[in-house]
Amino acid sequence: MAELVGALGTSHIPAVGVAIDKGRTQEPYWKPYFDKLPPAREWIAAVDPDVCIIVYNDHATAFSLALIPTFALGVGERFGIADEGFGKRPVPEVEGHPDLAWHLAESLILDEFDLTLVNEMEVDHGLTVPLSVAYGQPDRWPCRVIPLAVNVVQYPPPTGNRCFRLGQAIRRAIDSYPGNERVVIFGTGGLSHQLQAERAGLINAEWDAHFLDLLVTDPEAAARIEHIEYLREAGSEGIEMVMWLIMRGAMNPTVREIYRATHVPTSNTHNGLLVLENT
Ligand SMILES: [Fe+2]
Repeated sequence: MAELVGALGTSHIPAVGVAIDKGRTQEPYWKPYFDKLPPAREWIAAVDPDVCIIVYNDHATAFSLALIPTFALGVGERFGIADEGFGKRPVPEVEGHPDLAWHLAESLILDEFDLTLVNEMEVDHGLTVPLSVAYGQPDRWPCRVIPLAVNVVQYPPPTGNRCFRLGQAIRRAIDSYPGNERVVIFGTGGLSHQLQAERAGLINAEWDAHFLDLLVTDPEAAARIEHIEYLREAGSEGIEMVMWLIMRGAMNPTVREIYRATHVPTSNTHNGLLVLENT
């Protein structure tokens, strides 16, 4: 049986990818953030998952206003790196796990979650920056990856509760997979940030800490947070945090918090990092 061996939550800030790619991680602006990564990197190196399910959002790269899937699962053999306007990030291609991905598709759709299935797409910073946060700059990613893209860009995004229930269904699917893969699930995006209009630059570290506390210890309560609260407290792009609820839903009701770090400033975003294991 496949086993979910842990969860890693991280922001997917594009500037973090640029800092890694351009060798700037030891510059004064970046060093305090990158100094917080080793415990998470050591954890994932030790856990050494065969597959990572990465819950992220596409930023008008693979999808656009022409096509807006709420939940899109990557079932392909591989996923190319997108050019988001500044050339492709110099990172390895992402190798999929079609067998487990199709099992997830079947299990989730028959469990009444109507996913969009994606055989071909390129992945953007939403997925590649979390891989870089976890693994640095390897020649090849040490795990296969199943992308799960969530629409948090175009209104209406899914509710936190729907995301949490989807995570629980993902766990049922992992538990029923006959392979012996070790799986880690990533929740990405957030924390508080707003990139536009009067409140551009908004950071609400206090609310973010409250969200992370709830996520760890009372996820059912975290799942009840409504869109309007994310918008008010975490800014217009803070809604990305619903994706952390998919990650949390997949974990046991009680978890052990292995590591947590947050950092300001990173670009215009409160940068979060969280590692969980099942108890
Ligand atoms: Fe994003």
